[in-house]
Amino acid sequence: MSDWPDITRQILKERDASRFYSSILFRETVGSTNEWVRELDEADFPEGTVCIAEEQTAGRGRRGRAWESPKGENIYFSLLLRPAFAPERASALTLVMGLSVAQAVRSLGGPLPSTGIKWPNDVVLNHRKICGILTEMKADIGKIHYVCIGTGINVNQTEFAEELRDKATSLKLENGGRDVDRGRLLASVLLHFQENYGKYCKAQDFSLLANDYNALLIGRGGQVRIEDPQRAYIATSRGIAADGALIVELADGTVQEIKSGEVSVRGLYGYV
Ligand code: BTN
Repeated sequence: MSDWPDITRQILKERDASRFYSSILFRETVGSTNEWVRELDEADFPEGTVCIAEEQTAGRGRRGRAWESPKGENIYFSLLLRPAFAPERASALTLVMGLSVAQAVRSLGGPLPSTGIKWPNDVVLNHRKICGILTEMKADIGKIHYVCIGTGINVNQTEFAEELRDKATSLKLENGGRDVDRGRLLASVLLHFQENYGKYCKAQDFSLLANDYNALLIGRGGQVRIEDPQRAYIATSRGIAADGALIVELADGTVQEIKSGEVSVRGLYGYV
């Protein structure tokens, strides 16, 4: 039986965060922690409920992909939220979690402070992805019922499937082969998230978080390739807007906002 979630619980208690994170639940094996949150919503669990699994047998990624979730190495968790703002503001919570994961990883020290964010929400270390986030929501017109932010962090995994090797890495691989403490890392992610979420709810947009986000945004001030379904073009990345869009400047000085989901934005030389 794994005990690392107890370390997370203990730290959150010491840091006075257990009122917000009132239920931190753990299971050895689940299909998907996002699915588990959906069940807990039906049982009326409150905002701040966290579902952690040691292993997922049907982990879900974005765009209908699977999320490989081997046992005993990584962090897989989903957070239940019940924000009072309008449903169209919920998708930016994915960016709030991406920022929180990047801040938590950087706080571990060692070679990990080079961790950054590839807009909109991939957390990247040495040109490879270390975290994926899948946000799902149930809403009526104008009202959110619940939001689930599902997060997978590659912590101590050392082997990746052939097709992922040039795109994915883990904290251990980038940390000179040293194991990273999952309990402490998850506590740090949740503490950063609590603070960032408070700012997002207060402003109901990214304005109170933009400076922190832009400080970690990879490629800011440099050239990026915008891959629009109609055409691909090069522009200069200028950072995040209050609505979570990426501001880019074209060669003729025109400024555009790129909305998440419409296009993909890459560096000129590879994934990042
Ligand atoms: C991505 O494709 O980048 C998003 C991956 C999200 C994976 C996490 S792991 C915890 C939660 N449960 C899931 O089934 N998916 C998310």
